[in-house]
Amino acid sequence: MCQTSARLDGKFAIVTGGSSGIGYEAAKNLVKRGARVVIASRNETKLIRARDLIRKSTGSNRISYDVVDLASLKSVRSFAANVLQNEDQLDVLVNNAGAVLLPDRLTEDCLNLTMQVNFFGTFLLTYLLLPLLKKSAPSRIINGLAAAMYIGRIEFDHWNDIGRYTPVESLANSKLAIALFSAELNRKFEGSGVSVNTFDPFVARDTDILNNVSGIAKNVSRLFVDLIGQPKEDIGQQIAYLAADPKFDDTSGKHYKFCTEWINHWLVSDEVLTSRLWEESKKVVQVTDEESWD
Ligand SMILES: NC(=O)c1ccc[n+]([C@@H]2O[C@H](COP(=O)([O-])OP(=O)(O)OC[C@H]3O[C@@H](n4cnc5c(N)ncnc54)[C@H](OP(=O)(O)O)[C@@H]3O)[C@@H](O)[C@H]2O)c1
Repeated sequence: MCQTSARLDGKFAIVTGGSSGIGYEAAKNLVKRGARVVIASRNETKLIRARDLIRKSTGSNRISYDVVDLASLKSVRSFAANVLQNEDQLDVLVNNAGAVLLPDRLTEDCLNLTMQVNFFGTFLLTYLLLPLLKKSAPSRIINGLAAAMYIGRIEFDHWNDIGRYTPVESLANSKLAIALFSAELNRKFEGSGVSVNTFDPFVARDTDILNNVSGIAKNVSRLFVDLIGQPKEDIGQQIAYLAADPKFDDTSGKHYKFCTEWINHWLVSDEVLTSRLWEESKKVVQVTDEESWD
C-alpha cells in the first residue's frame, strides 16, 4: 500500500502517540527513510520501550522521545518550548495521538477530557509549532481522523460540557474538530509551503486503543477489529507516504483512507464554521499575546 521509495534524509519529524500502535509504525517507517524522529506521548516507560525497539529494528539512533500529555495545556506548552528551544527545523508533524472511551470528566484545565486529548491538545501543539514549520517550509502537517467524525457535532457553547455526550459522541466531536481545524489550517497556509493533509486509519489491528474498554465489550471489539482491521504497519506506511512522497509538496487539504484520496466531512468547506472553530479554540487553549502569530 502507498508504496514510495522517497527518502527523508536530513528531515526532522515529530510523531505524537508514537509509543504504540499506528504512531509507532509511522515513526519506525520515517526513521527507515532517514528522518530523525521524536515520538511523544504520556507514558515514559512505553516511550523508552518503543524507542529501543525502533533502534533495534532500524539499526538507527535517529529516534528519541519526549513526554507530553495532551490532556494538560501546561504539558503541551512545555513540550513545544523544548522543541522550539532545541530544534532549528521541523519538517513533518504527525498528529496521531488520541484515545477513545475516556471517562466523562473535566481535566485540570477544566476542559472535557476527550476533547482535550483528541483535539485541544493537538490544536495548541500545532499552533505553537507552526512558526517553526513555516520557517522549515516545505514542511508537512499530517492529522489523524476517524470515521466517527461523520456523526460528530460542534456546539461551541457546550463542547466542554460533562454529562451531555456519550463516550462515542465525545470521540466523534473531537475527531470532527480535528477535521475542521485541518481545513482552516490548510486555508491559512495555502501557498506557504506548509501542507496539511488528513488520514483515516479505518480500523487497525494490534494497537492499544481498546485498553480503556473492559469486560465483554473489549472481547467483542477485539474480535471485530481482528476481523475487519488492517495491519497497523500498513497505516504507518500510509502516514509515511503522506510524509515523504514528493507529490505532497504541493498537495494540501486532502483527506486519505486506504491510501486513496477520500471524501472528507462535508462541513470542512464551511469557512464560517472552520474560522469560528479556530478562534474559539484559541480562546479555549488561552493563546497568549506572546504566542499569537495570527
Ligand atoms: N486503532 C484504530 O482502529 C483507529 C481507528 C480510527 C482512528 N484511530 C486513531 O488513531 C490514533 C492512534 O490509535 P492507535 O490505534 O494506534 O492506539 P494506541 O496504540 O492506543 O496509540 C495511541 C497513542 O496515543 C497516545 N496518547 C493517548 N493519550 C494521550 C495523551 N493524553 N497525551 C499524549 N499522548 C496520548 C498513547 O500514549 P500513552 O499510552 O502514553 O498514553 C499512544 O502512544 C488515535 O488518535 C485513534 O483515535 C485508531
